[in-house]
Amino acid sequence: MNNRENFGSKIGAILAAAGSAVGLGNIWRFPIITGQNGGAAFILIYLCCIVLLGLPIMISEFLIGRYTHANTAGAYRIVSNGSPWKWVGRLGVFTGWFILCYYSVVGAWTLHYTYLSAANAFQDVPAQEYGSIFSSFTSNPWIPTIWLFLFIGVVHYVITRGVQSGIEKFSKIMMPTLFIIVVLLVICSVLLPGASEGIKFLLVVDFSKVDSSVILQAMGQAFFSMSLAMGCLCTYASYFAKNTKLATTAINVSVIDTIVAIMAGFIIFPSIFNIGMDPNEIQAGASLTFISLPNVFQKAFGNGTFFACVFSMMFYFLLFVAALTSAISLHEVATAYVSEEFEVTRKKAATLVTVVITIFGTLCSLSFGPLSSIQFKGLNIFDMFDSFSGMVLLPLGGLLTSIFAGWVLDQKLYKDELSNHGELKAPYFKLLIFTLRFISPIAIGMVFLDQLGVFNTIRELLG
Ligand code: TRP
Repeated sequence: MNNRENFGSKIGAILAAAGSAVGLGNIWRFPIITGQNGGAAFILIYLCCIVLLGLPIMISEFLIGRYTHANTAGAYRIVSNGSPWKWVGRLGVFTGWFILCYYSVVGAWTLHYTYLSAANAFQDVPAQEYGSIFSSFTSNPWIPTIWLFLFIGVVHYVITRGVQSGIEKFSKIMMPTLFIIVVLLVICSVLLPGASEGIKFLLVVDFSKVDSSVILQAMGQAFFSMSLAMGCLCTYASYFAKNTKLATTAINVSVIDTIVAIMAGFIIFPSIFNIGMDPNEIQAGASLTFISLPNVFQKAFGNGTFFACVFSMMFYFLLFVAALTSAISLHEVATAYVSEEFEVTRKKAATLVTVVITIFGTLCSLSFGPLSSIQFKGLNIFDMFDSFSGMVLLPLGGLLTSIFAGWVLDQKLYKDELSNHGELKAPYFKLLIFTLRFISPIAIGMVFLDQLGVFNTIRELLG
């Protein structure tokens, strides 16, 4: 383990971690749930979740990774001194792998939609047809699968090039590109007639829509968006240099993540309002991205015009880049694990992971077509991967991570690492531990119970 690579620069480390955090969640979920749950009021609650729950856990994951310089399973084995807490690391590796299987499928869809936009295929398509374009694409046995191979192929290529000349170099190119595209799209969008209505919808503070379920949604979103609880950040932090400032890096990553999420709202809402669509009818996720938005863009920027074509193409390419950098971070978790725990070369480990991901990814992808009859409680294979990871694995991982960091991890070690062995001041140390001990476990426990439907059942029981 002595010849492990490190990130070559601080900015490289920040951009890589930001690449993991900025993903589909920022673009296809955050804006819509913000708009529907009270606009700026939701953003405020979300920010509280980031600061109170997200940051302490992010810092803890960074800390465990950098202290041990090992893959997530190895890292937890070292810091848990052989106690059963080592399973938290293994759970993280499993969750990362699990999410990647269905996340890649969506990554593949963004490629296809980039291509369709570039080919101007949405010209003259009537509004009601976008649904069937999407379903006939996803149910096709070949086309989504071929894009999936391409998507996973790119991820594999970057991973096999290593930490510095793969992940770091790539993040340094892709993250600025992503940011430039976001800014360009925001500018085009806010210049549309009627854009101010959309901006108002997003920024008006409306606390009347905020109830307990909105708070729980904000927490869930913060967790997913910050890439917590599945080893991504821990694995990346194992490549941090010893003098990386953990808290500062975590703050930088969260700020980038939040800015991109809010800007995505400025891309989406002006065009939705421009064409007079009711934003409350739109569902976040795939249906927003692949059914509502292509139509919205054609209408807002002019059917079949060069502008509509370029805007739409840049938007799907943006989604692709966001998905790609997140997918790379998920792949790295598994690759580092296989390579270090089973002592095989990085190349071999990456290949094994890629093969397994491709098999399960293909099953997820085909679950919209040839395999759609395989269902469990009305969910196809893709939905099962999605729901199980979002509703069970992520909250469970988050809960265990915060309990472990707050109660089990040696506090002296925590303080030493946080302050880079006394070099930095860490006045927030006590507050951090307090949050990890009490606030996060309770809050995450509630998200968990909510996602399992416990609160709904209680509400129903109470009539
Ligand atoms: N954060 C990414 C998003 O917003 C997705 C993601 C990447 C993720 N790695 C993760 C989510 C780890 C949870 C855990 O889309």
